Amino acid sequence: MSNTETPFEQIVRSRRSMRAYDQTIEYDKDIVRKSLELAILSPNSSNMQLWEFYRVTSQEAKEKLAHYCLDQNTAKTASELVVFVARPDYVKRSIQLNLNLVNDENSFEKTSHKERRQEYYSKTMPLFYSKDFLFIFSLLKKLLVTLIGLKKPTVREVTVVNKKVTIHKSIALAAQTFMLAVQSYGYNTCPMEGMDSKKIKKLLNLPKAAEINMVISVGKGTKEGVWYPQKRYDYNVVVKEI
Ligand SMILES: Cc1cc2nc3c(=O)[nH]c(=O)nc-3n(C[C@H](O)[C@H](O)[C@H](O)COP(=O)(O)O)c2cc1C
Repeated sequence: MSNTETPFEQIVRSRRSMRAYDQTIEYDKDIVRKSLELAILSPNSSNMQLWEFYRVTSQEAKEKLAHYCLDQNTAKTASELVVFVARPDYVKRSIQLNLNLVNDENSFEKTSHKERRQEYYSKTMPLFYSKDFLFIFSLLKKLLVTLIGLKKPTVREVTVVNKKVTIHKSIALAAQTFMLAVQSYGYNTCPMEGMDSKKIKKLLNLPKAAEINMVISVGKGTKEGVWYPQKRYDYNVVVKEI
């Protein structure tokens, strides 16, 4: 480590996906709470916050969840498992939350901004998150933005599939904030998409509309838990300057 490394660099560089945790240590549950509080501050599309975070701490539920994470060692040895969940069914609630913010008398927003945001949450958001039947509405919206796009730059991602991507993007950002926060408290994590989402939804009593984004294991890592050296493409291979 160079002495010019900032605390943030140190956290990012030391994070590795941990596949085996020390199960003998006293585990400080509060760091997960603090890390989730930070995760909730992550940027998210239109501040819709269509997410939920399920902390699975009881031995019985953890064992079931680890089994649904395909019995991966990281899940089986974790002190706690956190399930990051997408809630597309919370759109109405989120629109209302944002409209309340816009109309809050203590808001320091400029009137012109307020009016634009009022319009955005009462018209654009309901349209973007509208339900679809046989993809018909998505196709109509796609056609509309294609026509608008002939005249001016416009958002093209308007289908029901794009909507899901939008929600999951935001949750992935929260997941990264969470993992870095846990790392900063001296614990480790591993994100998992290798899991049976249907069975996990049943375990968490979630409705059909909810979607599992990922499960993240948390605990005190071990040397054996890092399975291989960290290797990434070189900077010049993946970063392009135009
Ligand atoms: C969306 C996502 C899903 C992942 N799923 C799994 C998983 O199911 N099991 C696992 O052991 N690692 C999983 N990983 C961890 C990656 O394998 C790991 O990040 C990658 O190999 C790079 O290693 P590093 O995180 O140690 O730098 C996942 C990572 C991401 C971002």
